[in-house]
Amino acid sequence: MQDLLKVAIPKGRIVKHIHRLFQEAGMPLPEDLDDSRKFIIPAHEMGMEFIVAKPADVPTYVEYGVADIGIAGKDVMMEENRNVYELLDLGIARCRFSVIGLPDWKPVLNPRVASKFPNVASQYFREKGQQVEVIKLNGNVELAPLIGLADRIVDLVETGNTIRENGLVELEKIADITSRLVANRVSYRMKNGAVQQLCDRLQSAINAAA
Ligand code: PRP
Ligand code: MG
Repeated sequence: MQDLLKVAIPKGRIVKHIHRLFQEAGMPLPEDLDDSRKFIIPAHEMGMEFIVAKPADVPTYVEYGVADIGIAGKDVMMEENRNVYELLDLGIARCRFSVIGLPDWKPVLNPRVASKFPNVASQYFREKGQQVEVIKLNGNVELAPLIGLADRIVDLVETGNTIRENGLVELEKIADITSRLVANRVSYRMKNGAVQQLCDRLQSAINAAA
């Protein structure tokens, strides 16, 4: 049997973008990738096997080589800081990391900043020379300033609906975010033919869509 390319795919709202991109690249993905409880989906006719991952775990699977390739948001790459190759900017799931707060927010000494991305938040304020206390949350982070848990938050903004509906404002943009194709360092060399072919096809689809 040929050596399959193991590809870690994040679960969740990004899946529809990945389906479209692979379709446009002439590699339609298995239908059951998003609506099944099965986490290993073979696609031997494509020479691939898909591993369905929580988005934040994709760089971990790729660093440890249990997946050769993965699709990970730049947000997750910044937070996890894993030793992987970033091969392509897929240009999908476009959003931004921002500092967000209440409109009447006032600077305080040693403010509390809530985030699902504590490393990103800590690094951002450290580089600005501002001392903050970072509080790690696991979701619905926009609640934190409303209930008095934090002075500000660091979170993703896509349409802006969530901050608007919660009466919050974007104070500073930290970084633009898109999804990336990433590779394990050893797989990149050992399976270079297959990796390069996947990259070329995706790149053509990205160029055609631009
Ligand atoms: C993400 C993000 C923001 C929202 C941004 O949350 O953390 O809250 O989406 O999107 P918008 O600007 O289009 O409203 P998500 O719904 O993924 O859930 P979570 O934060 O609870 O994990
Ligand atoms: Mg959220």
